[in-house]
Amino acid sequence: MCNLRLLELQDIWLVLCITLYVIHIAGAISVASPQRSMTRSVQEDVFFSVRVTCQGVPTLQWTFMSGAVSRSIGSWQPDSSDIGGGGGGGSFSNITADYVDRVETYANGSLGLARLRLADAGFYVLTVTEDSGSSKDSGFVLKVNEVIYEDLQYLSVSALVLFCLAGLLMLSMWLLNRAYKNIKACRRRREQNGNETELQPL
Ligand SMILES: *[C@@H]1O[C@H](CO)[C@@H](O)[C@H](O)[C@H]1NC(C)=O
Ligand SMILES: *[C@@H]1O[C@H](CO)[C@@H](O)[C@H](O)[C@H]1NC(C)=O
Repeated sequence: MCNLRLLELQDIWLVLCITLYVIHIAGAISVASPQRSMTRSVQEDVFFSVRVTCQGVPTLQWTFMSGAVSRSIGSWQPDSSDIGGGGGGGSFSNITADYVDRVETYANGSLGLARLRLADAGFYVLTVTEDSGSSKDSGFVLKVNEVIYEDLQYLSVSALVLFCLAGLLMLSMWLLNRAYKNIKACRRRREQNGNETELQPL
């Protein structure tokens, strides 16, 4: 009876310990983000806002995925003093060459991407890896719209060019008309003069 109770107590302890361990593993990395899906226009900027909390200093890796394409945007490790606070920097930062002039990295794991292109539309995955080796992925969706006003701009520029061409055409026609009239008047005058000179000897 007494032995059985001891065993039960041990079992309960074991279960409790395992549960706590599982909670510890699962809860070690947490990625909080206010928005997982965003829509932007071409040339705009996007800010994937996240707050990574974990034990020790995490390695943050952002990957872009679209269809069959999967490429690394970059990875970095914030300074331990930066975690929780803002600011870029960190103990290392390895941004892919294609992105280096468009990307801004933050200690809390956030990623800023400037001057969006249509090809930037797709999935963005943040992989947080702890010193212990455990890691967690978080996905984001970005839609990129074509800018309508670019088309409008193109249209208005074309219209302006057409207007200028029409104006130029009208001006040149007017000038030609005037020149023609002048020439005609000149010729008539000369003819009259000629007639007069021809008439004079008579
Ligand atoms: C992450 O840090 C940036 C820069 O300090 C801040 O603007 C952003 O709101 C933070 N994100 C979250 C989810 O706290
Ligand atoms: C930077 O990242 C790329 C792609 O993930 C990797 O191949 C390269 O070895 C990294 N370079 C450094 C210095 O960490």
